[in-house]
Amino acid sequence: MYLGDPFDAESNPQGILNFGTSENKLCFDLIQERLSKPDMNYLDPRLLQYLDTQGLKSFREEISKFLTEYAKASTAVDPEHIIVMNGCCSVFATLSTVLCDPGDGYLIPAPYYGGINSKTWMYGEMQPVHVPLFSEVMDEESQPFQLTIEKLEAAYQRAKEEGIRVRTLILINPHNPLGDIYPAQLLKECLEFAHRYKLHVIMDEIYMLSVYDDTTFTSILSLESLPDPDRTHFMWGFSKDFGMCGIRVGILYTRNRAVREAVNQLAVFHGCPGPVQYILKQFLSDREWLDNVFLPINRRRLKEAQHILVDGLAEIGIPVLKSSGGLYVWADFRKFLKSQTFEAEMDLWWKILDRKLLISPGKAFCCYEPGWFRLVFSDSVDKIYLCIQRLQQMLHEEMNEPIPSSLSPEEECPVLDDGISANCTSTSVDDVSDGYSHLKKIAVF
Ligand SMILES: Cc1ncc(COP(=O)(O)O)c(C=O)c1O
Repeated sequence: MYLGDPFDAESNPQGILNFGTSENKLCFDLIQERLSKPDMNYLDPRLLQYLDTQGLKSFREEISKFLTEYAKASTAVDPEHIIVMNGCCSVFATLSTVLCDPGDGYLIPAPYYGGINSKTWMYGEMQPVHVPLFSEVMDEESQPFQLTIEKLEAAYQRAKEEGIRVRTLILINPHNPLGDIYPAQLLKECLEFAHRYKLHVIMDEIYMLSVYDDTTFTSILSLESLPDPDRTHFMWGFSKDFGMCGIRVGILYTRNRAVREAVNQLAVFHGCPGPVQYILKQFLSDREWLDNVFLPINRRRLKEAQHILVDGLAEIGIPVLKSSGGLYVWADFRKFLKSQTFEAEMDLWWKILDRKLLISPGKAFCCYEPGWFRLVFSDSVDKIYLCIQRLQQMLHEEMNEPIPSSLSPEEECPVLDDGISANCTSTSVDDVSDGYSHLKKIAVF
């Protein structure tokens, strides 16, 4: 629907606004200017011939310098340990088929970037083993949707009882869709947990440089020692941090030689054009521009756009989870659901879409609690205001509709596709809005 009717301020102002796709549209002016400089305009005949499937050596060398510096790597990243591919989706697809046998499971805290489901299934036929996270906080110290080792352990044991062989743990940091960042201590505990069960860890740090507040981001590359370096695999790409998802470049970094060799066999189907690799090598090598122009401006624009969206949502009564990184916020629409079910979430999603606003429902991220939506903020201020306006009009009309005074028991605890009941408390709709008062401590209003 969106592709058939995309918003355009001049040619289609009544079209659908896309606040669903995680794209950074804030710095096209800077990127365009840099990619138009004369040093980009170069064609060596070798760039048009068959290339090293692992990626151009000169590009890998530049990436290794870049990661060593920006991920604050504890030891220099070795270019020989890098494989360049056409995006992180390809890294997920190839890595999952290399690390696992069909039917094997991967642990993943839910909600999570839903694209991982298809990417790990298509080649590898891996199945997700969810570690369900909930907004309810148990004590002063914990955060909504917080991951703990106990939750990982419980999901691992549950999968084992169901006969699923878990081979891998997938973590996204900064997180998509929550926008939060794993504290270093939790990260280390997760790696130790994985080591205890001989699990591979796929660490997706594609939003590594899209951190817009003062929270310290810890890349696994920066850890002094890894419990199991041979089973720890890192990915990053140009799609998010450099707003170039159309250029299709992502990288795998792994010290595991056997994994590299196997992934490299598949990389032949997932290569990047030589001229693209050349351009991006030049792009990464301009440290002065990255440090003094692109990165500070991008960070400032992300922060401003995030504030505008969060303030606008607050004005119409929608709290969001406190976020530090990524291009989106995780917003709490629970009080606008007719019942606390995923059917009601879909109904609300359609109603929002009817108002020509595309946002992403929590179900698309395998969230276990209905009523959460992800909204991407990395777009122009005008569009953010229009998004708030459309939401406001829709909610205003919706809230005039009668709301049931209590929920039936089935509605209280939705049973998800895999038969696991979401952990929700028995409450009326009115209580639901009070029920998230605990979020006020962390939510930005
Ligand atoms: C967490 C995460 N990983 C990977 C990807 C895919 O990245 P790419 O464009 O490099 O294939 C996305 C895209 O939305 C993402 O959010």
